[in-house]
Amino acid sequence: MKFQVKPGVYSIGALNPAMRVFDIVMKTDYGTSYNSYLVRGSEKTALIDACHKSFLPQYLDNIRQVCDPKEISVIVLNHNEPDHTGALASLLEEVGDVTIYTTQAGSLYVKAITNRTDLNLKVVKDGDTVDLGGKTLRFIPAPFLHWPDSMFTYLPEDRLVFTCDFLGSHYCEPYLWDYRMAYPQKYKEAFLGYYQAIFGPFKKYVLAGLDKLAALDYDMALTSHGPVLTREQGGYLDYALEKYRLWSTPEKREKKLVPVFYTSAYGNTRKVAKKVAEGILSVMDADVELYDIIDHDLCKLSELLNECDGFAIGTPTINRDAVPPVWQLLSCFDAIGSAKRPCVVFGSYGWSGEGVPNVCARLTSLKCALAAEGLKVNFVPTAEDLDKAFALGEALGKAIG
Ligand code: FEO
Repeated sequence: MKFQVKPGVYSIGALNPAMRVFDIVMKTDYGTSYNSYLVRGSEKTALIDACHKSFLPQYLDNIRQVCDPKEISVIVLNHNEPDHTGALASLLEEVGDVTIYTTQAGSLYVKAITNRTDLNLKVVKDGDTVDLGGKTLRFIPAPFLHWPDSMFTYLPEDRLVFTCDFLGSHYCEPYLWDYRMAYPQKYKEAFLGYYQAIFGPFKKYVLAGLDKLAALDYDMALTSHGPVLTREQGGYLDYALEKYRLWSTPEKREKKLVPVFYTSAYGNTRKVAKKVAEGILSVMDADVELYDIIDHDLCKLSELLNECDGFAIGTPTINRDAVPPVWQLLSCFDAIGSAKRPCVVFGSYGWSGEGVPNVCARLTSLKCALAAEGLKVNFVPTAEDLDKAFALGEALGKAIG
């Protein structure tokens, strides 16, 4: 795939329409693309972001349709996850002397990804520029969009901004112009799924990133996955910006949100969950709902987990561990944005009850604030067990304040 975005600016990335799972955990029904761009000034040629290493031959062919790789003297790495920098080590064999521009965090990652310590790296700060001759690249660090190393690169002369993963989508059509998409409804679905999986945990950083973009004069966002976003008739740039702001703006709530998650084979963990909820409500006026994890959509539960003021989670024990739906929910926990969140753990067990301490250990490693020791109940909760469950809820409510 190679096409001209504007005079002297080319999209030369690789298409991967067959991909159905990205990064092990993310379903991608419509494939993806690894977008990369060449910017040709009168003095220098810059490559912006690279490609997944599996697509190196296709990628090099695309570069050669624009120029000899030896003409590239600037490489900008907006983000160093291997879907973008995986091909870099091999690519460096094809180019001449290059200077690599990336953030401080990016400089560490790129060394570890290429296993090279001799790279000619230039660490950039906000506002630093490179003059290519009639085309200027200005760097705008945008941390946690979605890695610490992320940045945008702005090309003011052409009113373009290169946003890497930000505003992207795992979506692949032969022509990656937004206004030429054959299946816009499928694109919207992919755009939402991508946001939820990649940027959902980083909402406050998304809002900061949108503010940085709002300060720029541009008419196209060149992402690293999916179509180029434009303001042409039928383009999706404003749609993408509006959706990111809408999805990232916190809901205004009148009460604190304290979900009680659990699952229960025989109703015993459920009995404890109800008592924990009563305990919470005895010390605070909060929105406290019980959620049996296996009866609800994981995306919805994940949002609650990451947006609540505190939570309780209950698990039975099977095979000396918490049960898989509980682990699946905890795998969605935003360990950065939700650190220090008050929580408590409970559960009924039959033989040995490792589920509760295992979940407590996991939450501790995620830097959550356990409000009390986990409560283990052997089989059917007694009146005394239910009193302890009530007290557990009280402790959580007090910790939330
Ligand atoms: Fe597309 Fe965060 O890599």
